[in-house]
Amino acid sequence: MTSAIGVDIGGTGIKAGVVNLEHGKLESDRVRLPTPRGAQPADVLATVQQVLDMLGVSDSSLPLGVAFPASIKEGRTLSAANIAQEWIGFEAEKFFENGLGRSITFVNDADAAGVAEARHGAARGARRLTILTTLGTGIGSAFLYNGTLVPNTELGHLNYEGDSIERWTAYSAMEREQLSWQDWAARLQVFYDHVEFLFTPDLFVVGGGVSKHPENFIPLLNLRTPIVPAIHRNSSGIIGAASLAAD
Ligand code: BGC
Repeated sequence: MTSAIGVDIGGTGIKAGVVNLEHGKLESDRVRLPTPRGAQPADVLATVQQVLDMLGVSDSSLPLGVAFPASIKEGRTLSAANIAQEWIGFEAEKFFENGLGRSITFVNDADAAGVAEARHGAARGARRLTILTTLGTGIGSAFLYNGTLVPNTELGHLNYEGDSIERWTAYSAMEREQLSWQDWAARLQVFYDHVEFLFTPDLFVVGGGVSKHPENFIPLLNLRTPIVPAIHRNSSGIIGAASLAAD
């Protein structure tokens, strides 16, 4: 199989593309629709169907991977941070499969991005522990040990002053509070210092929408661990979901 379809469901947008698996690159346009307000299951499903229609792959027999912003075990979503509470304990994989009328591979969004960067991007060939973090509506994380994914790490929910640290440190916090890059980087420093102390990683990869502007904040961080932007930026989730679907 040389191609597969990836869908990346985020707190703000639902993105999709057809991925060339040999090169780990999009071979179609990248289509995007806003995540429906409240992100209720039926509305999210309808939007996923719409992005597949826009790509012209609704009837395709290519493998389909769907990345989703929650911890996922055996096809069930176990958390709901920037989406409707209905997802907690929900049989989400079956719900999408029934709704789309086909089988899917269902995976956490940051884990998908981590797999894309390990197979085709900034963490290719990296030894020992790579931690990818996505800085977007929330903060997602993926641990890759010698390229193998350890799923559902959820570092955005480390506790900071009684709340999930992503409320204070995600890119959405910078936008909401209109922080300068310096003020935001100071918050990121607290987050990455803590993660570095806990796990002593060998490489940090930064993904999510803000990885388009790495020069604005990565040089402001002072860490022992090398820290680099994701090569596939905001398409990592699509590419990783497609790549996992083809496994
Ligand atoms: C969710 C994670 C997700 C991250 C990025 C967090 O709020 O708990 O599962 O990976 O947002 O979307």
